[in-house]
Amino acid sequence: MKNNRILFFDTTLRDGEQCPGASMNLREKLEVARQLGRLKVDVLEAGYPVASEGDFEAVEKIAKEVKGSTITGLARCLAKDIDAAGEAVKPAGKRGRIHVFLATSKIHRDYKLNKAQDQILSSAVEGVKRAKGYVEDVEFSPEDGSRTEPEFLIEVCKAVIAAGATTVNIPDTVGWSVPEEYAGLIRQLYEAVPEFQSGKAIISVHCHDDLGLAVANSLAALRAGARQVECTINGIGERAGNAALEEIALALKTRSDIYKGLTSGINTKEIVKTSRLVSRMSGMVVQRNKAIVGENAFAHSSGIHQDGILKKRETYEIIDPEEIGWGVSELPLTKHSGRAAVVARLRHLGFKLTEGEVSTIVARFKEIGDKKKFVYDDDLVTLVEGHITGVPETWSFDYVNVTSGNQTVPTATVRLKKKAEEKGKETVVQDAGVGDGPVDAALNAIDRLTNTPGQLKDYSLRAVSQGKDALGEVTLKVDFGSGELVAGKGANTDVIEASARAYLNAVNRYLETSKAKAKQGDDAPQHSQP
Ligand code: KIV
Ligand code: ZN
Repeated sequence: MKNNRILFFDTTLRDGEQCPGASMNLREKLEVARQLGRLKVDVLEAGYPVASEGDFEAVEKIAKEVKGSTITGLARCLAKDIDAAGEAVKPAGKRGRIHVFLATSKIHRDYKLNKAQDQILSSAVEGVKRAKGYVEDVEFSPEDGSRTEPEFLIEVCKAVIAAGATTVNIPDTVGWSVPEEYAGLIRQLYEAVPEFQSGKAIISVHCHDDLGLAVANSLAALRAGARQVECTINGIGERAGNAALEEIALALKTRSDIYKGLTSGINTKEIVKTSRLVSRMSGMVVQRNKAIVGENAFAHSSGIHQDGILKKRETYEIIDPEEIGWGVSELPLTKHSGRAAVVARLRHLGFKLTEGEVSTIVARFKEIGDKKKFVYDDDLVTLVEGHITGVPETWSFDYVNVTSGNQTVPTATVRLKKKAEEKGKETVVQDAGVGDGPVDAALNAIDRLTNTPGQLKDYSLRAVSQGKDALGEVTLKVDFGSGELVAGKGANTDVIEASARAYLNAVNRYLETSKAKAKQGDDAPQHSQP
């Protein structure tokens, strides 16, 4: 008997984080995980524990802290991976899950793994059995499932279920499928495997967006019998990304006439908040016209549309923006608001901060309050997130002065402080740089001062709240020569200062990760991402 409740499996912190330049630190991951808890995702894939000490720690902390959702960690069919995942999800107790995967398609078997079907089958079974030693709830993914011979895929499903898997995920790993075909495959599996019909095990779907069909494929698969859908906030993920959680949740809700009886536990009122948090924490800017959560999703510019909306909202709007938490009005704070008002607002926004952190935020709030008439929730969120995304500051920003104009060579003077090594004295350094514009000049000066030259690969600036005095938030990505993109964020009412702070944030992040990598040692096992 089919149960029509669809389980939402969020993989923002695992597949989403595999997006180049989207990696998050522990504190950022924890904030996202807490928000995913408020969004009420059923399963939260918190990371890939064997990949690094940082990944392990993040999964373990999330398993300890986030209640309500099942917490899972990813593992290849290797003992060391499964053991790491088992240990990391332990604090979640009965809500712990291990997600084991192994490629099954012919192209992966022949070229990547060099293994025959029977070897794949026995490794999959062994992997599931080992995971069962840690948790009851085991998911198995035949990677590149959508390109696997259906007859072999049926065999794999039956074998891993017999070994104890309770969820079998059929990934469209390379975004190859189209909806009719993918739904056909899911239906075929459902009909061929008695445990899917009895409810002893469920089918999950996991779609990538290489052809722009991830959401369409996921929805088609749910109608064909899948009961878990794997997705990410804002659709971030490997290459073109994963299916976007918010789009699937709203499609099920808005078109309940088509997706008859299929329900979810997603608290849609938390969608906008979650989308913005993930965007800021991952440094992945949401395109303006993105469905559901883009800035323009509810903006009507034509007069005909505006007239229609005023007469009856449903003439041009199929979703009530309030249903997803859009535009909930708030009373702005001012520089006269006291600590208690700021603390109450922070609590309302869902932040869990220590007394020391509150003091830092209140001090920053006062600085901003002196420059801006009103401090909005979005401003406050930016301040807190700026603090959260802050990394230990090898270099801290002190001062920038620019000379610029259309008749002069843009020049920037920058002063930075360098943290003392051991118990020595902090050093203050100053230099000037020139560039194509004031931002370029300031970043060139930072390159010279820190002796960590980087290539700016991506830069975006957005106004955080309303008015000409709005905070400008800069998100950028830098390549410091390793080929890896390092994200940086900074906010200020002065956009040159915001740019310099964002760049310095990236420099500090790069120095910190280089230090951590050196500490882990060259002889540590190398783990490729799935
Ligand atoms: O896309 C994929 O195949 C994956 C698996 C690890 C589930 O992300
Ligand atoms: Zn994936």
